[in-house]
Amino acid sequence: MSTPYAPPAGYGDISFVELVPLALRFLGLGLKLVFLALSYPFSSTKFSLKRVLWRQFVRAICPPSSIRQLQFVCPATGVLYQKYMRSLPNKPPVISENIGDGISLHWMGPKTNKKVMYYLHGGGFVLPAVDGHFYMLDWWRNEAKKRHGIDFSIAVLEYSTYLIDCTSSCQLSKARMIGLINFAPWPTQLVQVAAGLAHLLKEGYDPANITVVGDSVGGHEVIFLLAHLIHGHPAADVLNLEKPLAGAAALSPWLCFGTETTSWKQHGHSDVMPLGALNKWSGWFIKSRTRTDDSYYFEPALAPAEWWGGLEKVAKNVLMAGGASEGMFDDIVTTEKAMEKGAGKQVKLEIFGQEGANHNEALVEFACGDAPGSTNYRMLEWLKEVYA
Ligand SMILES: *[C@@H]1O[C@H](CO)[C@@H](O)[C@H](O)[C@H]1NC(C)=O
Repeated sequence: MSTPYAPPAGYGDISFVELVPLALRFLGLGLKLVFLALSYPFSSTKFSLKRVLWRQFVRAICPPSSIRQLQFVCPATGVLYQKYMRSLPNKPPVISENIGDGISLHWMGPKTNKKVMYYLHGGGFVLPAVDGHFYMLDWWRNEAKKRHGIDFSIAVLEYSTYLIDCTSSCQLSKARMIGLINFAPWPTQLVQVAAGLAHLLKEGYDPANITVVGDSVGGHEVIFLLAHLIHGHPAADVLNLEKPLAGAAALSPWLCFGTETTSWKQHGHSDVMPLGALNKWSGWFIKSRTRTDDSYYFEPALAPAEWWGGLEKVAKNVLMAGGASEGMFDDIVTTEKAMEKGAGKQVKLEIFGQEGANHNEALVEFACGDAPGSTNYRMLEWLKEVYA
């Protein structure tokens, strides 16, 4: 049953004191963007102009801003979803399903579809989904149908209800409960991601027709959901699958919060996501932990091969994708290798590295209006494989 969607109360409310520096930042950014656009014809960059401007925007706004400032700039997931769906010429149904605890599932495609992709968006556990997510997901749906005759719907999770302000301090004893901002103490994320899948199963979708896909921290969510299905995280409801999921795909999953690996050393400073923002966001996330006995869920790249024994019982196919030139790539490879070693042979595992790509390239291409690259095309083939 769907109830009308409303963005979380208090979302994006900022005080005057926070608004002034943000406005100044935008003023400086505006000047810089004009300069970049004018000098673009004379530059030797490999990027499109839109990409150059987008990178500058992310670099100027993300690292210095507080969660509330970022949310002032970025509308809530459901707001963007509804705007996107209403902009489509064929007027598809707009379905935002409130599934309890303030969690919503936003549907692209009819709920009557038997095949469903459960989608977990990225954004550092701080940001909502962005426009690019909906462009990308719609492209997957349309192209998979056109090329392979596969018809599936997508349920996009909007999580968070129980929220704290981690800007000043995340010591939970001292946390100020300031209403709803899109940031919750660990393991709330895991509990809510599991609740979304539990809802789909309860609604009667067959595991063999469900895929779970996510980008960046959404990719992290895909991986901890698989671990939860195998082991049962003590904080979340037990989910017993009668059969394995059709597949799980993690695009540029953030699987470890250290930045000591070779790929971090090589690409950390040139990556599209500024290290300053990533370190700040993972710092907030780490401070938000209400338990520390679940490290393999919290940072899956730390898990040994044995942790992934039983993976074949919960997913038939796992795709791990990343940019070959992104800081997180080594941790993605480490995790995939542990899975290969630990899981039974019945699960098909694959690592896919997009040449020359930074973090979350599949999404960034759509966010910037660039042509889809190899990860997006790999996703179309993967959908054919898992839904065959
Ligand atoms: C999976 O979806 C297809 C339609 O796409 C349907 O015919 C089939 O019955 C579904 N499988 C199960 C096990 O529900």
